Amino acid sequence: MEKNKSILVTGGCGFIGANFVRLLLKTRPQYRIINLDLLTYAGNLHNLEGISESTQYRFAKGDICDRQLLDTLFKNEQIDTVVHFAAESHVDRSITGPAAFINTNIIGTFSLLETARECWLSEQATSGEYCFLHVSTDEVYGSLGETGYFSEETPFDPRSPYSASKASSDHLVSAYFHTYGLPAIITNCSNNYGPYQFPEKLIPLIFHNSLGGKELPVYGDGKNVRDWLYVEDHCEAILEVIEKGTTGRSYNIGGNNEKQNIEVVHTICDLLDSKVGQLPNQQPRRSLVRYVTDRLGHDRRYAIDASRIKNELGWQPRMSFEKGIEQTIDWYLENSQWVETVIDGTYQDYYRQMYENR
Ligand code: NAD
Ligand code: DAU
Repeated sequence: MEKNKSILVTGGCGFIGANFVRLLLKTRPQYRIINLDLLTYAGNLHNLEGISESTQYRFAKGDICDRQLLDTLFKNEQIDTVVHFAAESHVDRSITGPAAFINTNIIGTFSLLETARECWLSEQATSGEYCFLHVSTDEVYGSLGETGYFSEETPFDPRSPYSASKASSDHLVSAYFHTYGLPAIITNCSNNYGPYQFPEKLIPLIFHNSLGGKELPVYGDGKNVRDWLYVEDHCEAILEVIEKGTTGRSYNIGGNNEKQNIEVVHTICDLLDSKVGQLPNQQPRRSLVRYVTDRLGHDRRYAIDASRIKNELGWQPRMSFEKGIEQTIDWYLENSQWVETVIDGTYQDYYRQMYENR
């Protein structure tokens, strides 16, 4: 039986955070979870529907940049583990409006690090077993050509405001380990897909447009490559890292599932054709593909060498892309109301109903 932990999950109402909270509740009844989330456009309480506050789980609405709030939470909840997901996460938004990325991803991470340092390492702090896990991205390594993989030794070369802000936060986390001895670990993961992903990202966006017979925007020539990982595999990897990882180390996490974007788009179109039938004009959904102006600075290829986490912690992905994408499409079909409330914006009313009226 694992030791009890009091875990601060930041960004637990987002895509990966919500899947992680669900996994914890299912598999680690002995852990206490405090979910701190600002409920930005990407935070959705419906992602945690069915989970009620209890002695095991508590939701706190707030900003990771708010030092006073962080101090109170760390002290009152006796936080010993941080799993830090909260971020601005969408590359396209970072190109049109980088300021929020600098604020949340850099200043927010800095605020969390400062609070952890003060609460865990000050003279008044009682000794304990602590872990600060910073959830980061493979995009910090830049872009690959046709061959090669990102390893933990690959030099950072971020190329979008998003990846530059994540690289900056990774450097801060490393600095707090080396300078102050803060027990911190970093994970750098490839593209996730699965339930509860905000439909601005490629897979849920293509699902939604394709189902509704709308055009499917494919950037550039559609041949950019991403390494897709099923979200539950990512969440399991994070659990392994907080329970068995070595502080001061970083771990790459990947799906070993390299696909060109156009292949992913075609797969979703074909799955929908076979599950719900072709378009009303009897055309296959692939006919909706439109090649559009490329993303500025679009990274060509990402691919992860995940041998460190496999050799040291025994983790490897369990889900194949073929099975994972079909399961994901089935989930979105069965949860069409979730998608609708996100698209029409009414998901944001849920917080008021749940918390402001009681
Ligand atoms: P997401 O955009 O779906 O969710 C982000 C969450 O953070 C939301 O719930 C939002 O409300 C919350 N948040 C934003 N700003 C906040 C603030 N100032 N204070 C408190 N909460 C705030 O993101 P995601 O896709 O779930 O990604 C989670 C983390 O994983 C991010 O750090 C991202 O960089 C990293 N990551 C994502 C992927 C991916 O494919 N999605 C891959 C590798 C790493
Ligand atoms: O690699 C990990 C990263 O993966 C995470 O750190 C990010 O938070 C996450 O958003 C994701 O970044 P990408 O930019 O790779 O994901 P996105 O879903 O936005 O795009 C995937 C690919 O599809 C990318 O090459 C751009 C392309 N694309 C995207 C959209 C939204 C299109 O061709 N058309 C689109 O409409």
